[in-house]
Amino acid sequence: MSSWNRILRFDEVSSTNDLAKDMGKRGESEGLVVVAKRQTCGRGRMGRSWISPPGGLYVSFLLRPPGSAEDALRLTVHACVPVAKAIRQVTGLTPKLKWPNDVLIEGKKAAGILVEGVFKGGSLEMVVLGVGINVNTDVRELPPDATSLSQEKNGVIDEERMLSTLLLEIDSFYEKLKKDEVDEDEYKAMSCVLGRQIEAVVGRETFRGKALYLQRDGALIMKSDEGLVLRLAHVNETSIKVTKEEENDSKSLRKN
Ligand code: BTN
Repeated sequence: MSSWNRILRFDEVSSTNDLAKDMGKRGESEGLVVVAKRQTCGRGRMGRSWISPPGGLYVSFLLRPPGSAEDALRLTVHACVPVAKAIRQVTGLTPKLKWPNDVLIEGKKAAGILVEGVFKGGSLEMVVLGVGINVNTDVRELPPDATSLSQEKNGVIDEERMLSTLLLEIDSFYEKLKKDEVDEDEYKAMSCVLGRQIEAVVGRETFRGKALYLQRDGALIMKSDEGLVLRLAHVNETSIKVTKEEENDSKSLRKN
């Protein structure tokens, strides 16, 4: 049985995350999905906007997982996996994951995840998991470090198939998450960050070093060139880029 009990579809909304969150606050149960063809105020991480013209897929899932504030990071990081799997299934492309929430194709951003938690007395009351995928988006409307699936495939992608595959993949991921059975190796296999030289900007500070591993809660551990071991866990204050390309893998690690 699918986790999704109500799917609302719109031509245009301000933000599917905002709509799902408002409905959640008014008592809507878990399993609501809000889908829009375009957004007028799409939001991304760190207060950035998410450019949302027609051709993209903008979807939010209302979830009420058991857990605390810390679990939101785990959800943000690992939810990239079902998004990447859905893209791979529908297009045959090879997406890579850039911590914490980016799905890249050939080093350019093709999809992003925004997880927003609503808390009551320290416990997680609900989570809105928002997914934006540049499916058939005209790249001239996107930032220079972004791409679309149609651009990378050089052909139009079936948006309905993309949506239905995404719903299935997020459903199966969420079932595993609730049973604490998330496969961390899947994340590792898709990461373009682990084991690489990175630059991390945390607030006003910049650190250079090597991304070592992912902690169970989704935090990224890096060792700076000065030998400091750092735990990157604040997704709204941290952005990273891969600074050194590996031989034979230059395309998937193009700086972004
Ligand atoms: C990011 O890369 O910073 C996250 C982008 C998330 C965008 C999606 S589109 C659907 C949902 N509604 C929003 O306003 N944002 C998310």
